[in-house]
Amino acid sequence: MQLPDWWQTDPCQRFTLGPREIPGRIWTASGCFGYGLSGHDISSPEFASPYDGIGAVVTKTVTPQPRAGNPMPRLAELPCGALNSIGLQNVGIDHFVSEVLPELERLGVPTIVSLAATRPDEFGEMTRRLHAVAGRYDHWHGVELNLSCPNVAEGGHDFGRSAETVAACVAAARPHLPDRCLLAKLTPNVGEIAPLAHAAVAAGADAIAAINTVIGLEVDLASGQPLLPRRFGGYSGPAILPIALAKVDEIVCEVGAAVVGIGGIATSEDALKFFALGAVAVQVGTAQLRDPFATAEIARELSR
Ligand SMILES: Cc1cc2nc3c(=O)[nH]c(=O)nc-3n(C[C@H](O)[C@H](O)[C@H](O)COP(=O)(O)O)c2cc1C
Repeated sequence: MQLPDWWQTDPCQRFTLGPREIPGRIWTASGCFGYGLSGHDISSPEFASPYDGIGAVVTKTVTPQPRAGNPMPRLAELPCGALNSIGLQNVGIDHFVSEVLPELERLGVPTIVSLAATRPDEFGEMTRRLHAVAGRYDHWHGVELNLSCPNVAEGGHDFGRSAETVAACVAAARPHLPDRCLLAKLTPNVGEIAPLAHAAVAAGADAIAAINTVIGLEVDLASGQPLLPRRFGGYSGPAILPIALAKVDEIVCEVGAAVVGIGGIATSEDALKFFALGAVAVQVGTAQLRDPFATAEIARELSR
């Protein structure tokens, strides 16, 4: 593509986010590239590796205990995107810090660890564990708090829908990350996202990651029932790009926070739209699920 004149940034150069330098501005989104370990055996005619040019891999979300995830089916491909209800399937923080994170460090994968929990103190404990194990690692750059999961302590509502809880989660994690960046990933399933972003930044977040998936539902016409056993799922992919752009714009204009833009990015043009609004970095999700070189391709095109 012909890059616009205003785009003078090299997205594959290091940039500062909070207390940390991050290797680049084009990242993979949580849940869409595993833990970041699986891309090492693949290459293509154009890329030596799917990691080429990638600034960070945001891992699959890790929780205090291992989780098996929701019953199948839990991913549906729709004409304009994907609907998922994976249910945070993951190995749990113990296995992650003892097996996965050391391997990511050995392989040199620039890593942001995504965490979810059901209580603010669990976020504090998980970040403490990460820092205890990986405080001297070169390639672990920070934590992204996935604040879109059900809050057991508050009756199962999304964590991210309450400014008080967003603030409590960020405040619990911050002291354990003296030299790593801390991102709060917010849900778009609210009327106004700016108050949540404001609460996160006031509590110490270095940046807002926006957005997570949009609540959706697909009907299986043969059975007349919702396709996903949990009825609702998270909608992602090209259809949510304008929703994500609107939420990012709201955060940039009303809060002035650093934003990592996520949602519907499949091409370098899509990514540029987030940068035009003031995003400091972007993440590629569903497009990366379809093509493991999608993020590398966007990084290369924006570097030209
Ligand atoms: C299959 C799948 C699994 C996901 N798992 C997670 C997850 O574990 N944690 C998280 O914060 N977001 C998760 N997401 C949301 C993405 O990180 C991203 O915020 C969302 O899909 C919007 O970006 P996209 O339109 O580029 O996919 C998942 C998305 C998909 C499609």
